[in-house]
Amino acid sequence: MTAQRTRDVHQAAEVIRNGGLVAFPTETVYGLGANALNPDAVARIFEAKQRPKFDPLIVHVADRESLDQLVTDFPHNAKILADRFWPGPLTLVLPKQPIVPDLVTAGLQSVGARIPDHPLALEILRAAAVPIAAPSANRFGCVSPTNAEHVREQLGDRIDLILDGGPCRVGVESTVVLMTEDPPLLLRPGGVALEDLESAIGPVTTRSHAFQEGPQVAPGQLTQHYAPQAKVLLTDDPGQCTVPESAGLLAFRVVPQRPRFAQVEILSPAGDLKEAAFNLFAALRRLDAAGLDLIIAERVPEKGLGRAINDRLRRASAPTATDPV
Ligand code: TXA
Ligand code: MG
Repeated sequence: MTAQRTRDVHQAAEVIRNGGLVAFPTETVYGLGANALNPDAVARIFEAKQRPKFDPLIVHVADRESLDQLVTDFPHNAKILADRFWPGPLTLVLPKQPIVPDLVTAGLQSVGARIPDHPLALEILRAAAVPIAAPSANRFGCVSPTNAEHVREQLGDRIDLILDGGPCRVGVESTVVLMTEDPPLLLRPGGVALEDLESAIGPVTTRSHAFQEGPQVAPGQLTQHYAPQAKVLLTDDPGQCTVPESAGLLAFRVVPQRPRFAQVEILSPAGDLKEAAFNLFAALRRLDAAGLDLIIAERVPEKGLGRAINDRLRRASAPTATDPV
């Protein structure tokens, strides 16, 4: 570790222990962290993000031993997944210990936990020596930040410290799995592919996105979440769309000859879903910053990380609260 990095980690740990807020990189997206066991500190996360209190936070730990204080049970399937995918982009929802504040779990009796696969995140967790509750470091309803600049733009004036670890390697949030059900239930597709979960533990239940609302099971899974300013239209074939003058295109690998778009982002010319996930949120932000009337987003293959990408695009294209239902 460089001297500067040691100082940054030390300072971040200090801020966390004193009840402050630190934005830090993980392999998925940047998180907005606070001491998970301090309800006042956790309350500051909700304030900074303007996040509704019914949306529970993920608790990050450095190792499996640190989970013992947080969960009452670690079922066999959870052990297999943890062995296989931690540290990594997987959040396991498990029955919580009373020490986990209700604010963290939105009153649920379960807590979402993960060990992130990022050296800086792990160093902060070890130095702070407390579990860190951290949602994505964006304002509520906005696209998650995949670099430190994204965090600065939305939350710069509301938090105590931002650690810059460069762009996030995965680019979409962690996969969230409810482990209190048998078979386990996929609550949010993310950085670990469903196929990989199933090859480790067998069938995992998935639900159509239409059922992913409501505070009971997956409170954060509001249909209209990642909403950009521009309207987003999700399609299998952008070449068939009739578009207004000021329309942008978020393409998977190629751009059709027609129609003409005012601005174009290509997620992966090689058609690689990992590369597409890595580019997704920054591309959406760039298109949104261009002040377009409409963003046409191309659906990607519904496999591997493609599930997470399509899920985020679907949310971005869902009608906003002000639209007629
Ligand atoms: O990759 C990630 O998961 C990032 C990084 C920072 O770790 N974090 C993240 O947090 O995406 P957030 O708050 O944006 O999304 C957390 C989601 C909640 O909205 C909810 O859907 C689910 O995780 N969740 C957390 N705890 C839960 C619980 N006890 N039961 C059900 N779902 C839970
Ligand atoms: Mg989020």
